[in-house]
Amino acid sequence: MKDKIYIFDTTLRDGEQSPGCSMNTQEKLKMARQLEALHVDVIEAGFPIASGGDFEAVREIAKAVKGCTVAGLSRATTLDIDRAFEALQYAARPRIHTFIATSDIHLKHKLKKTREQVLEQSVNAVAYAKKLTRDVEFSCEDASRSDIDYLCQIIEAVITAGATVVNLPDTVGYAIPQDYGTMIRTIREKVKNIDRAILSVHCHNDLGLAVSNSLAAVLNGARQVECTVNGIGERAGNASLEEFVMALRTRPDVLPFHSDVDTEEIYKSSRLLSTLTGMMVQRNKAIVGANAFSHEAGIHQDGIIKSRMTYEIMTPESVGIKHSTLVLGKHSGRHALKKRFEELGYTLTPEELDNIYTEFTRLADKKKEILDEDLMAILNNRFENDETSFTLSSLQVMTGTGVRSTAVLELTDGKETYVDSATGDGPVDAAYNAIERITKLNGHLVDYNIKSVTWGGDAVGEVFVKVIFNDVVFTGHAASTDIVTGSVEAYLQAVNRALSAKSAKTSDDVMIKNQANAV
Ligand code: KIV
Ligand code: ZN
Repeated sequence: MKDKIYIFDTTLRDGEQSPGCSMNTQEKLKMARQLEALHVDVIEAGFPIASGGDFEAVREIAKAVKGCTVAGLSRATTLDIDRAFEALQYAARPRIHTFIATSDIHLKHKLKKTREQVLEQSVNAVAYAKKLTRDVEFSCEDASRSDIDYLCQIIEAVITAGATVVNLPDTVGYAIPQDYGTMIRTIREKVKNIDRAILSVHCHNDLGLAVSNSLAAVLNGARQVECTVNGIGERAGNASLEEFVMALRTRPDVLPFHSDVDTEEIYKSSRLLSTLTGMMVQRNKAIVGANAFSHEAGIHQDGIIKSRMTYEIMTPESVGIKHSTLVLGKHSGRHALKKRFEELGYTLTPEELDNIYTEFTRLADKKKEILDEDLMAILNNRFENDETSFTLSSLQVMTGTGVRSTAVLELTDGKETYVDSATGDGPVDAAYNAIERITKLNGHLVDYNIKSVTWGGDAVGEVFVKVIFNDVVFTGHAASTDIVTGSVEAYLQAVNRALSAKSAKTSDDVMIKNQANAV
């Protein structure tokens, strides 16, 4: 029997806290449900003490997700731990994940504490968390730059205090596989009670080695790997879930382990995350990039036609990339559309089908053949629009060479309709200026990307934007056959996210004020 590697997904915590990846509670819930379908073992849903928004998201995920353990992060203090458990209490399987730095660099410069003080704080934190819940994970932040004897001492002490999982992060992505593997092996050899806990690893990708380090760790005794979908996370990101899991699946000859991940849900998870965050996946990204399974060179195509084994080490189907057996077009009915979505793994409610069918017919009027990628773009657009406050009703642009462009825009927020116009340096700029006049939100566009979802003159284009409102970056995404419309819808999504963050912030402020009053 091959050893199981527990997959601890931190997309919604370490991933979400990186710039440009923020999600609101509804978006996090959607992602959490997808992670449940992906069959990860643990979903780290957030850092409850960090903000009211984080608290709410962890609580809602704890209530909704029953198939996985739900973890909440806390520093090694009673205040943090209480807040984490308050959010996690509804989970079927709650886990408190508490951490403190253990490297001398962090002790001296950040914590200004001695090793003895940190040891004592760690033990107290784990013992306190253990009174609230059975499952307690303890992380030695910056473990890969910590003194190995001190690490062993602290690990033994927290296991005695009740830690069920001990995590050794490579917080700054400094490790290389050989050293990291040796660190895990040494801990297994030296810590007397190590068999009473699961050893976990958490690697950052600053040197591009996060997945390699995680593999070295499991080869030396680690049995939990912390990772994120698309490898998102602080700075250069975390170990990519899809790369790690597919390495196990593709190389059982040298990696005698298995995970419970349903690999056919990988592509869907990747797409959903990139739509929710607006963080595009690079074309050549392993496993989920647009080029990951496309063979361009003639010699490769020839080989693939003769036998896929010549140039393909895993199939696109194994990660959930499916090819259409049915081409949909203008004459396709609701039934065919529903069936195709089911084949792609989505069961639509009658209301969802109604909404999507309307958008489908609109697209089919412009485009002869509707491909799976188009359908996914419609679906993601649709879900995204559910909670937006401003939506586009109509758009008219006048543009040309040597003249300033003008845009006339009508927006609605569900209650009222707003019409305004503006000029700009090109049609998109003019439309963005008109949005600014209506919403009264001044944004600074820092990133703007268009990529075609399919091919041909009638292809659907996806637009991704990053906009700074009041010093905070918000992303937006939309798909349309018209790039100006897509650009406006993407920008509106960023605006709506900024507005919803603003109202969450206001309620955080109220909450903080109430707490202060209560003291
Ligand atoms: O990178 C890190 O050290 C972390 C810990 C909080 C687990 O994210
Ligand atoms: Zn991290």
